[in-house]
Amino acid sequence: MTLLVTGGAGFIGGNFVLDWLAQPEAEPVVNLDKLTYAGNLETLASLHGDTRHHFVRGDIADQALMAQLLADHQPRAVINFAAESHVDRSILGPETFVQTNVVGSFRLLEAVRHYWGSLQGAARADFRFLHVSTDEVYGSLGPGDAAFTEDHRYEPNSPYSASKAASDHLVRAYHHTYGLPVLTTNCSNNYGPFHFPEKLIPLMIVNALAGKPLPVYGDGLQVRDWLYVKDHCSAICRVLQAGRVGQVYNVGGWNEKANIEIVHTVCQLLDELRPRSDGQSYGTQITHVTDRPGHDRRYAIDASRLHQELGWKPAETFDSGIRKTVRWYLDHPGWVERVQSGAYREWVQTQYGAAA
Ligand code: NAD
Ligand code: DAU
Repeated sequence: MTLLVTGGAGFIGGNFVLDWLAQPEAEPVVNLDKLTYAGNLETLASLHGDTRHHFVRGDIADQALMAQLLADHQPRAVINFAAESHVDRSILGPETFVQTNVVGSFRLLEAVRHYWGSLQGAARADFRFLHVSTDEVYGSLGPGDAAFTEDHRYEPNSPYSASKAASDHLVRAYHHTYGLPVLTTNCSNNYGPFHFPEKLIPLMIVNALAGKPLPVYGDGLQVRDWLYVKDHCSAICRVLQAGRVGQVYNVGGWNEKANIEIVHTVCQLLDELRPRSDGQSYGTQITHVTDRPGHDRRYAIDASRLHQELGWKPAETFDSGIRKTVRWYLDHPGWVERVQSGAYREWVQTQYGAAA
């Protein structure tokens, strides 16, 4: 029995593969990743020599490759993490988002549909396609609105969330039309180890330590619902194990925070764990910059279904998770340094200009 994971060299997929293979009786993982700027094999370095991990560089949009991998490895499940994932990049260059998140997901579904159609008996009955998606497909909430349930209508506002919404719809349609045994998870903002420093929390840690400005978009009062990445991974395991075929599960940490509060928390932890040599707080580096176009004001996830049906709940509080995260970045300067390649520096210059 094997799992086929796509996007397993990225932030969440990488954490998932590491956590999965840390289980003593874990099934082997075939890990397919295109290694875009966001894919990093160094995240998987601890698996070097582990015969249960088989890495393949490739594109989910390469249907022939996906069909070959499925035929060769006969996985009992496919977990699709592969995506373009950064909202700001989708605003500056939406096409790769459509290519990977829409066309790529479609081609992957096609390959999986044909593979699943070739299976017999228990292999066919037990097969699952788990699609990893986002709360951003539901749009933006007002201050007093109830948190997103799985029945909230789709109102994506960025090219990123629109492309993810399209992939969710394809997954739904492949179940409805062809009977493909799918599961979909829609999760809130993740944070934790191996997070690429273009996203809010790792960017703030890395910039603070480098003595750079901490760029807060607009008034910084936009709200996100934060979940420690390993809790997201445990939710995916639980849905894979016991989720109802065709069902959608929201995943969230019940941890709504305004961005500015997150940035202050990161600064306070750094003040405690790695004080600045001049005795000043890292908070003095906070700089308000031009807001993200079309910036969603608030996300909040109602994860009751996952809790009530499958008994899942997060292990970390925000306080414990953010402390672990800041500690991890302080303990892994080599990972951070190497991930900040030429391509990364180019992106920072394009996005933040003089404030970089
Ligand atoms: P990431 O950008 O860190 O990683 C994406 C990975 O996919 C990278 O390793 C990249 O190389 C790979 N990839 C990109 N295009 C590919 C292609 N065409 N074929 C094969 N591999 C390709 O993203 P992440 O934060 O780990 O997110 C993983 C998934 O979870 C995404 O689908 C994202 O939409 C979803 N999600 C993310 C969050 C979050 O807070 N980061 C929250 C909810 C859902
Ligand atoms: O909600 C889930 C989503 O969370 C995932 O689907 C996405 O893949 C993931 O990237 C994340 O999207 P966000 O846009 O919420 O994450 P990001 O870290 O880019 O931004 C978090 C908030 O912080 C957002 O309101 C924008 C703000 N921000 C971000 C950056 C990078 C800033 O204020 N300054 C910044 O420099």
